[in-house]
Amino acid sequence: MQNVFPGEVFANTADFDTGIRQFLPRYDEMLEVITLCISSTSRRILELGCGTGELSLKILNRYPEAQVIALDYSPRMLEFAQDKITAAGYQQRWTGIQADFGDWANNPENLDIGSEFDACVSSLAIHHLQDEMKLKLLERIAASLTQDGCFWNADPTLPESPTLAEVYKAARKEWAVEQGINLTEIGAKRGASSTQGYSSQDQLASLDAHLQMLSKAGFKTVAVPWKYYGLAVFGGWL
Ligand SMILES: C[S@@+](CC[C@H](N)C(=O)[O-])C[C@H]1O[C@@H](n2cnc3c(N)ncnc32)[C@H](O)[C@@H]1O
Repeated sequence: MQNVFPGEVFANTADFDTGIRQFLPRYDEMLEVITLCISSTSRRILELGCGTGELSLKILNRYPEAQVIALDYSPRMLEFAQDKITAAGYQQRWTGIQADFGDWANNPENLDIGSEFDACVSSLAIHHLQDEMKLKLLERIAASLTQDGCFWNADPTLPESPTLAEVYKAARKEWAVEQGINLTEIGAKRGASSTQGYSSQDQLASLDAHLQMLSKAGFKTVAVPWKYYGLAVFGGWL
């Protein structure tokens, strides 16, 4: 099995956009929720772990005035995203930067992206950090937002109990069967990953732990606008 960075998921980057929609139920809906939670007046938006640029694209489509600064540590994912953004004609409004967001949390002086972001967003990426680093990252995000800035994250969360873990697994399997998706076939396209920078394979925290971390990091209004079994969109405003 080919080695990939944690979060790249597939051995071949070109498999990501189709594969992620087969792996996860309601991927597009989940990203749309983040897009809708951002204020339409947002101009400067930071995305962490942009992957192939699917969330960036949704944001740029919906908000013609928005500029997205997108971080990812994988050159392969960034290149794929850049091509997609360019093909959509958004290259003037999108900047891809190769960087580890864990490193940004610990050493912000090493990354020249400034602060005063109106919004920060992320999907399916931050769960690769250990909890201590998740909190540090949230604190960094809070320090990098404007006064009424917001942060929204879509991530898998630790099931609330062993029974619910089984329920979530069964629901995902049932959904795949209904869609005619063969999870084993898709699974064969995955790459193997070990630790890379600050990320390693899934380091899930419970939704409750996420909400507590958000409050601790200074987010005064904390919310969960979407949850589907073990996937959730959560975040809030300063
Ligand atoms: C599963 S993909 C999700 C991509 C995209 N956000 C989406 O929803 O389609 C996770 C992305 O996070 C990136 N990633 C994981 N850990 C990272 C880190 N510590 N710093 C920067 N990027 C990271 C991976 O390279 C990958 O592109």
